[in-house]
Amino acid sequence: MNVLILGSGGREHALAWAIGKSPLLDKLYCAPGHAGMAEIATCLPVDAEDGSAVVKLAKDNGIDFAVIGPEAPLVAGVADALRAAGIPVFGPNARAARIEGSKGFMKDLCVRAGVPTAGYRRFDAAAAARAHVRQKGAPIVIKADGLAAGKGVVVAMTLDEALAAIDAAMDKGAFGGAGAEIVVEEYMEGEEASVFALVDGGKALYFADAQDHKRAFDGDRGPNTGGMGAYAPAAAVTPALRDEIMERIIRPTARALAQADSSFCGVLFAGLMITKDGPRLIEYNARFGDPETQAMLPRLKSDLLDALHKTATGRLDEVKLEWSSDTALCVVMAARGYPGDYQKGSVIKGLEKAAARPGVTVFHAATRRGARGEILAHGGRVLGVTGAGATAGQARAAAYAAVDSIDWPEGFCRRDIGARALLR
Ligand code: AMP
Ligand code: GLY
Repeated sequence: MNVLILGSGGREHALAWAIGKSPLLDKLYCAPGHAGMAEIATCLPVDAEDGSAVVKLAKDNGIDFAVIGPEAPLVAGVADALRAAGIPVFGPNARAARIEGSKGFMKDLCVRAGVPTAGYRRFDAAAAARAHVRQKGAPIVIKADGLAAGKGVVVAMTLDEALAAIDAAMDKGAFGGAGAEIVVEEYMEGEEASVFALVDGGKALYFADAQDHKRAFDGDRGPNTGGMGAYAPAAAVTPALRDEIMERIIRPTARALAQADSSFCGVLFAGLMITKDGPRLIEYNARFGDPETQAMLPRLKSDLLDALHKTATGRLDEVKLEWSSDTALCVVMAARGYPGDYQKGSVIKGLEKAAARPGVTVFHAATRRGARGEILAHGGRVLGVTGAGATAGQARAAAYAAVDSIDWPEGFCRRDIGARALLR
């Protein structure tokens, strides 16, 4: 098979790395990709959100199967365009991707399906939202309805913060059109976990779980980010909890989507709060997690390409997944200043030495080659350094030893990835 992976982050590098090991693979293409992916695939420039450009690129290169990494192309209908052109694709059509692209759609669907989630109300006018928040009081959660690159959620611990968040989204247009409508949600307490299931129509198969670290700094302080590190499997997700999550959350959602003429084909990513009353849904994503994927895939013993292709071609029933008993832990190295302003173009050294350490895989998230072949930082989250080991402690030691052997003074990372797993 000639395979195309769409996207250019750490998640896509991990997908390319795992798919690259498949005996089913003929040629691997990544679009647009980055310097790390260019080492294992042919990278082609494309606007990943432009369906007709992606279809043309796929046809020109004899692509047999496409895997879409990020949410924006899914919401923009790139999977629809590929399917219409007869190219099998892993990733939902635009109607189904609304599960991530519209929080209001997601919440309404969950209520219909009886999925446990935070109580909520939708607003398209600021005055009514303000009155509601004043009546409910804090803590309370304010969410822009549309895609806002992970920045559209404010967990307001005070009434003033909540009112300011409504103001920013609805009156000041901080998220553009994505914030024209908001969801105001009940605050939930507990430990968070990310759960992934392969889904085709009403059918679902448990894939894996992980725990992300969303805040920028140690001790879960600082601003929210795309994710500063993850480990897998998530210590909080016991086998019993996994069954409960499938039966009460994932399967009812897959069926409800199919009934709403929004049949889902791809990976459904449930962000969960494990509360004292059991698992409750925070949000859905229509794709793999970043950096969760960089911690999950090094544990996968089965052929990822085979699993994704079967999911995409009506054979989910035939998929069997085998996992290593190891823990894997990914530390994200980001450019100083991220998630705020940061510089691009600093030189990163020592990547080969880091990758040669036992149990270590170095994924790139945003890099490019300089004129002399050197690796340059080219974004906010720049590297994902994954260590694997028999215990969470060993995985963490392997990951941080590799991080410490990378020479990049302009980068930073959290030093406490996996701390909750070690506490158990
Ligand atoms: P989201 O982008 O929806 O995943 O939200 C970002 C983060 O905000 C989540 O990872 C949670 O830490 C937090 N969050 C979102 N919704 C709630 C909620 N209803 N209660 C408590 N925390 C929440
Ligand atoms: N790590 C969270 C996400 O991928 O949305």
